[in-house]
Amino acid sequence: MNEELIDTKIMIIDDDVNMTDILSNFLNNLNCDVSTFTEPIAAIKALKQKKYDILILNYFLTPINSEKVVHLIREFDKEIYIILMSNHKDIFPIINIMKTLDIQALFEKGSNFNELILLVQSGIKYIEQLRNIKSMKIQLEENLLDFAKILINTIDAKDHYSKEHSERVSKISTLFGKHINLSKEEIKDLKLASLFHDIGKIGIPDNILLKSSALTKEEYATIKLHPIIGANILSSSKLFKDITPIILAHHERIDSTGYPNNLKGDDIPYLAKILSICDCFDAIVSDRPYKKGASIEYAIEQLLLGVDKQFDKDLVNEFIKFIQQNRDEIDEITN
Ligand SMILES: [Fe+2]
Ligand SMILES: [Fe+2]
Repeated sequence: MNEELIDTKIMIIDDDVNMTDILSNFLNNLNCDVSTFTEPIAAIKALKQKKYDILILNYFLTPINSEKVVHLIREFDKEIYIILMSNHKDIFPIINIMKTLDIQALFEKGSNFNELILLVQSGIKYIEQLRNIKSMKIQLEENLLDFAKILINTIDAKDHYSKEHSERVSKISTLFGKHINLSKEEIKDLKLASLFHDIGKIGIPDNILLKSSALTKEEYATIKLHPIIGANILSSSKLFKDITPIILAHHERIDSTGYPNNLKGDDIPYLAKILSICDCFDAIVSDRPYKKGASIEYAIEQLLLGVDKQFDKDLVNEFIKFIQQNRDEIDEITN
C-alpha cells in the first residue's frame, strides 16, 4: 500500500524533539528518507543544498516563526509540498497563512498518524503532477523549437548561406557571451536570437535575396524589412518573446543610422549590440557563393572602424580580445 512512499525525501522542522523522533521513526518505517531539524535556519540552509519532496513543519517555531520560514523557502522552492502541524486551537489564523503562503496541508498534532500517511501520499501525487506539467512544457518548447528550425531549413532551401551563417553566429555569440560573463539566461537568449536572427529573410523575394550584383535602392529597402518580418514571425510564440526585441534590433547602429527604428546607443538592447558584432564578423570572414571570405585580421580592422558608429566600443574591444584568445576555435567555426 505504501510503496509510493519509498525514498520520498521528507524534512521535519519542530523544536519539540519528542515529536520529531516519533514522526521520523514512523516515516522511516515506511521507508521514507527523513531529515529532522529543530532549528529553522539550519533547515532552510539544508533545503537549499538538497531537494526535498515534502516539508512537515510545526506552526510554532523559534527564532523565526513558521510563516517567515515558509516565506523564505518559497523564494527558492515553489515545488515542495508543505504540511503544517498545529494544535487544534490554532486553526483560524493558520487557514489564512496557508492561503497566502502556498501551504498545501494541515496536520493536527494528536490525530491518528494514518492521516499523516494520507497527506504524504497526496503530497507525492501533487509533486508528480507538477513534474509532469513541467516536462510537458519542456516538450512543447522543444516542439516549437523544432518548428522554428524547419523555418530556418526552408530559408536554407533557397539561400544555403543563411542557415550556415546563423549557426556560426550562434556558436560565436554563445562563446563570446561566456567570455564576457553573461548570465545563463542571457546566453540562452543570445544563442537562440543568433540562430533565428535572419529568419525574416523567408519573407524576402528570391530575386532580391539571392541577387549577387549590387541591389537597387528599392531592393535594399526590401531586404531591410527582414528584422521586422522575423520579429513578427517569432512574436506569435511566448517561447520567443524575450528574443524578438533582439532580432528586431540586430541591424540598429550605435549612431542611430541603423534600421528599422534608428535606435541610438543604449536604446539598443545589449544582446542586440553583441549579436550585431558577431553577425558582421561572420559576414566578413565567411565565404559566399560569389566572394571569398576575408581574413580575421581584416574583420578586426572593420570592427574597429565601426566603433561608435555601428558598434559599441567596449564590446568591440572585448570581442577582439576574445577572438585573439580563442583563435583556434574561431578558425574552426568560420572555416
Ligand atoms: Fe540580418
Ligand atoms: Fe546575419
